[in-house]
Amino acid sequence: FTADITITGSDGPDPHSRKTHLISSFSDLGVTLDFPSSNLRFFLVRGSPFVTCFVSNNSSVTISTTHAVSSFSGNRSSTKYTAKLNNDQTWLIYSSSPINLVKTGSAINSTGGFSGIIRFVVLPDSNQDSEPILDRFSVCYPVSGDADFTKPFEMEYTWQKRGYGDLLMLAHPLHLKLLSTSSSTTVLDTFRYKSLDGDLVGVVGDTWLLKPAPIPVTWHSLKGIKEDHHREEIISALVENVDALDSSADVTSASYFYGKLIARAARFVLIAGEVSHLDVVPKIRNYLKSMIEPWLDGSFGPNGFLYDPTWGGLITKLGSKDSGGDFGFGIYNDHHYHLGYFLYAIAVLVKIDNLWGKKYRPQVYALAADYMTLGKKGEGSSSVYTRLRCFDFFKLHSWAGGLTEFTDGRNQESTSEAVNGYYSAALLGLAYGDIELAAVASTVLAFEIHAAKMWWQVKEEDTLYPSDFTAENRVVGVLWSTKRDSGLWFAPKEWKECRLGIQLLPILPVSEILFSDVKFAKQLVDWTLPALDREGGVGEGWKGFLYALESMYDKDGAMEKVKGLKGHDDGNSLSNLLWWIHSRNSGDE
Ligand SMILES: *[C@@H]1O[C@H](CO)[C@@H](O)[C@H](O)[C@H]1NC(C)=O
Ligand SMILES: *[C@@H]1O[C@H](CO)[C@@H](O)[C@H](O)[C@H]1NC(C)=O
Ligand SMILES: *[C@@H]1O[C@H](CO)[C@@H](O)[C@H](O)[C@H]1NC(C)=O
Ligand SMILES: *[C@@H]1O[C@H](CO)[C@@H](O)[C@H](O)[C@H]1NC(C)=O
Repeated sequence: FTADITITGSDGPDPHSRKTHLISSFSDLGVTLDFPSSNLRFFLVRGSPFVTCFVSNNSSVTISTTHAVSSFSGNRSSTKYTAKLNNDQTWLIYSSSPINLVKTGSAINSTGGFSGIIRFVVLPDSNQDSEPILDRFSVCYPVSGDADFTKPFEMEYTWQKRGYGDLLMLAHPLHLKLLSTSSSTTVLDTFRYKSLDGDLVGVVGDTWLLKPAPIPVTWHSLKGIKEDHHREEIISALVENVDALDSSADVTSASYFYGKLIARAARFVLIAGEVSHLDVVPKIRNYLKSMIEPWLDGSFGPNGFLYDPTWGGLITKLGSKDSGGDFGFGIYNDHHYHLGYFLYAIAVLVKIDNLWGKKYRPQVYALAADYMTLGKKGEGSSSVYTRLRCFDFFKLHSWAGGLTEFTDGRNQESTSEAVNGYYSAALLGLAYGDIELAAVASTVLAFEIHAAKMWWQVKEEDTLYPSDFTAENRVVGVLWSTKRDSGLWFAPKEWKECRLGIQLLPILPVSEILFSDVKFAKQLVDWTLPALDREGGVGEGWKGFLYALESMYDKDGAMEKVKGLKGHDDGNSLSNLLWWIHSRNSGDE
C-alpha cells in the first residue's frame, strides 16, 4: 500500500489510532469515520471520486505524502490548491471556506485554525477537461448511500448529499451496463478513471436505478429432456445413484462437504421429476430427512450450527473451536457457499413434504437469515443478523472472505457456489410460498451472475483486463478487492480443470444462465483441455465439469468422455451429468 496522501489532525500522528478512531455511522454504501481527538470526520462513500473530510473546532491539518511534492499552489480565494507529486499524480484540494495551506518541507500545513469541509481528489491521467468538472462538483458531497430493493430485478441507490448543486459519483462497468435510462442521472462519458475493475465513469445524480434483466428461477431445466431413450439412460443411472444413498453410512461432519452431499441427493428428486420416474422419490425423501434433521434440531454429534451474538450470525461448532475449521466458517468465510447447499437440499424437501417444511420452518429460516436478512440496522431480524452478509452493494457480487484481514482486501473464488447460494434461497422462497424471499434472492442472484460474467469469466475478445492477462486467463482464480489472482486457494494456476470446475459447480438448472454464452464455454474448454495431460494426472471429478461445458456445443463428443469417467465430484453424479447433457439446446436433434 502506498500512502499517496496522508491527512493528519491537530494532535499529530497518533500511534494508538486504532483505539481512537470509530465508525459513528454506516450505510449500505458508506461509513463515517471519526478521529475525535484530531477533530476530523471522514465521509467515506463508495463511488465518490473525492475523499471528504470535515474539520471541527478551528483545528490545524497536515497533508503529507510518501512521494515528493514537486509543486504546490493555491488560487486567490484560498479555496482550491493544486499539489503535483513526483509520481505524476496531480491532487486537487478544495475547502468550503478559505484555508491557508503552506508547503513546509515534504508536508503541507494549515496555518491558523480551520473549521469546515476539505476535499481531496486526484486528476484522471488522461482527460484534459476533467479539472473544470471536478471544480464544478467539488461543492456537493455525499455523506451516506442506501441500496434498496424496490421491485424484483431492480435496485435503487440513494445518496444523501450536502453542500450545493449536483452530486458527481463514479460508476464501474457493471453499473453502466445496468443503469436504467429512467434514472435521473447524466453519464459523463469522457470523465474516466482507470481501475482494476475497468474504467470508472462519472455519473451526475443522487439516485441511480440499476435493472438487471429478469432471470428465470426454476426447479427444472428450461428445455426439458425430449427423447425417450435419453430419459431411459438417465433413469438407469438415477436408480443406481439412489440405491447407493445410505443415511447410516459414516459421512463427513464438515459443513461444506455435508452440504454438498445432501444437495447432490436433492438433485435426484428433481431429475426424477424431469424424467417422470417418481418411484425413487420416497427413498430420497427419507434420506434427506434423516440427513438434515440432526443439523436443525442440534442432535448431530460432531458439528452443528450455533448463534454467535458477537457478529450476529450462525457459525458451526467446528468453526467455533478452530478458525480453520469448516474452511473458516467460524470467522465468517464462505457462509453463502455452505448454507447455499443446505438450503438447496431443504428447499427440495420442503417442496415435496410441506408438513416437514412447516415443522422445521423456524430453524430453516434461521439458516436463510444468516446471509439473506434484508432489514437494515434496528429493523426486525436485523438486530439478530447482518444485512445481506456476503453481498457487496457497490461491487454487485459477493465476497467469500470473512473477518480475516488481507493485504489485497476481500476475496471470492467460486462464483457458481455464490450463485447456488442465492438460487437456493430463491427456491426456498418458492417452496414456502414466500414471495418476498424469492424476489430478493432472485434479484441478488441476477447481480451475482452479471458480475461473474463481467469480472470472472474472461472472454478472448474482452478488453476489461490488460491484454497479457486476457491472453493467459479464461477465468479469474480468486478475485480480490485489489488483485486478480490466476491461482486458487487449493490449486496452482496450471490446474485449469479446477479453475473451470470451481466456477461451474454445482451443476444446476441455473448453470445454463451463468454459462449462457456457448462461444465462451468453448473458449474455456479449449483453454482447459491441455491441462488434462498434465504429469501426475487430473482428478476424475474435475473432468466431469469440463465435459459438461463441452456438451453445450459437442454433445456426442462429451457423452463419449462422460461414459469413460471413473468417478464424480462429491457434489455431482452420473445422473446429474446425463441430465445436464440431455437437457442442453444441442439436444434438439
Ligand atoms: C469539537 O466539535 C465537535 C463537533 O463540531 C463538538 O461536538 C465538540 O464538543 C468540540 N470539541 C471541543 C473540544 O471543542
Ligand atoms: C507541519 O505540521 C506537522 C504536524 O502538525 C508538524 O509536525 C510540523 O512541524 C509542521 N511543520 C511546520 C513547518 O510547521
Ligand atoms: C482559530 O485558531 C487560531 C490559532 O490557530 C486563532 O488565531 C484564531 O483566532 C482561532 N479562531 C477562532 C474563531 O477561534
Ligand atoms: C478558487 O477555486 C474555487 C474552486 O474551484 C472557486 O470556487 C473559486 O472561485 C476560485 N477562486 C478564484 C479567486 O478564482
